[in-house]
Amino acid sequence: MCGIVGYIGDRDVSSVLIVGLERLSYRGYDSSGISVISEGELSFWKKSGKIHELSKIIDGLNIKGSLGIGHTRWATHGIPNDINSHPHLDKSKKISIVHNGIIENFLDIKEGLIKEGYVFRSQTDTEVIVHLVDKHYKSNLVQALAAACKHLKGSYGIAMISELDPDKIIVARSGSPLIIGKGQSENFVSSDINTILPHTKDVIYLEDNQFGVITKDDITIYNNELTKIDAVLQHINWDPVQSEKGGHDHFMHKEIHEQPAVVRRIISKYVDSNGSITFKSVKDVPLEDVSRFIIQSCGTSWHAGLIGRYLLENYAKTPSEVDYSSEFRYRRMISKGKDMVLAISQSGETADTLAGIREAKSNFFPIISFVNVKNSSIDRESDAVIYSHSGQEVGVASTKNYISQLTTLYLFSLYLGVIKKELTPEQAKSYIDELNKIPDYIESILAQEETIKTLADKYYLSNQFLFIGRGINFPSALEGALKLKEISYVHATGYAAGELKHGPIALIDSKLPIVCIAPNTSTYDKMLSNIQEVKSRKGKTIIVATEGNKEIADYADDIIYIPKTIEDLSPLLVSIPLQLLSYYIAIKRDCDVDQPRNLAKSVTVE
Ligand code: F6R
Repeated sequence: MCGIVGYIGDRDVSSVLIVGLERLSYRGYDSSGISVISEGELSFWKKSGKIHELSKIIDGLNIKGSLGIGHTRWATHGIPNDINSHPHLDKSKKISIVHNGIIENFLDIKEGLIKEGYVFRSQTDTEVIVHLVDKHYKSNLVQALAAACKHLKGSYGIAMISELDPDKIIVARSGSPLIIGKGQSENFVSSDINTILPHTKDVIYLEDNQFGVITKDDITIYNNELTKIDAVLQHINWDPVQSEKGGHDHFMHKEIHEQPAVVRRIISKYVDSNGSITFKSVKDVPLEDVSRFIIQSCGTSWHAGLIGRYLLENYAKTPSEVDYSSEFRYRRMISKGKDMVLAISQSGETADTLAGIREAKSNFFPIISFVNVKNSSIDRESDAVIYSHSGQEVGVASTKNYISQLTTLYLFSLYLGVIKKELTPEQAKSYIDELNKIPDYIESILAQEETIKTLADKYYLSNQFLFIGRGINFPSALEGALKLKEISYVHATGYAAGELKHGPIALIDSKLPIVCIAPNTSTYDKMLSNIQEVKSRKGKTIIVATEGNKEIADYADDIIYIPKTIEDLSPLLVSIPLQLLSYYIAIKRDCDVDQPRNLAKSVTVE
């Protein structure tokens, strides 16, 4: 999704901006642009397509700048073309703006501005901001930006430069992240910490309704009344994330293969040498009193939440419900005083999940979040955070972070079970012993990669797939279908197998591949009946089953075996062949696996 970079200092400005844009590119984008001030004069270049298209038009121009801003755009308002790309400029082309987020009332503002004689060049919502700044400008740019922001409804992270005050980058934030990096006689701006960390580890996270004025040597932060406030300079003590493919063809492939190490890492972080679970970050949260969990998240994180519900109910005997953040945030929030909201997010920036947290907070729910990206907005706004420790996930389709969400939720549920005295410490230890075996089991599934690749070769021309599962592996079916559709653009639907006869069974014919998730769990017999229903209608079954299960092979066109584990850990194993199947089908269909069309790694708009 959209990304912002900015730089002021003595380095080659356009190069710093382009490298910054490259570092943002994993988030997903469809155009890019930069704007630079050189000897007081503003210039800009923008182009649809990949960043190298932009580089092509600026290579050889010998741009000498003292400051600049850049942007990767993920189209929301207006198609991805050169004109709709950022930056956007005012009528005299003296003010340049890049923006992340969505201005919800832009049509009303645009109508008013057109009546006043403003001419719009693009179809974007962003362009209203720059015209509003122009309209409100008297002699001070930050005042003009603050006046413009008073009209905006929606979310924004904004960076602005102008010939009218050519030694400053001005930034604003409301609901969309904006970070300032402090260097030595140079400063940086970005919407993503990973772009700043290679240059400096001293950063200021702009809060909502704050403005920043950045010169080469100074950073001044203002509140929405434009009163100067003391900025909190934080020192980040972790390194910029590694984003090399390490010999793999794609980040997704690398990340699938990192999963055994991710599970081992999480165990080492949260299980001490005595085999007891310690979540230091939640030790002061009165978990024993919680009578209901409400889990809210999106996409793959929502699937992890669905599995989390089974775990919390099973080990901690605590009723739990799960909602999409985009639905939860608009629901009536009724708290009986002992409810707790759990938010799950890889990026920690998903707009709906963040909004869900804010709504829940204003309704007095305590919030624990499961987050991968440290210092993200959700990390900073939650009452307590449990980190997923999966390392940076670059592939847009979530794989290793899903596994880490399942692992942390499993440990959290056991921890809670012990606190609530629903489990003895010894019982919890025996469940941890099972978890300890999972990394080796995942490795054994990864060793079957060639077999799964052969299945992809066999099925990749099918234009639709059905995934079915039951109980704790119903969410696994949803996740398998999501992975396939997002990276290979094949229509895939996940269904609870017990629901087949209530509708989707009508889809089944001799051409439809049906991925049947049938490990040895408490619902296995029921699942076997569902598979028989599928087979008797000539559906093509690809069955994921537990090693040693020969009986089920009679109903399989193809079969993938996974090692035997306990029911509550089976989703961790089931997801591995499904990830590989999607990956190889996408490759065969010649799709951009790491950056699927229309998708973004961090969904910072509603
Ligand atoms: C799918 C995928 C998305 C994300 C969703 C939530 O592979 O990655 O569905 O899971 O956009 O993102 P986070 O977890 O960052 O809140």
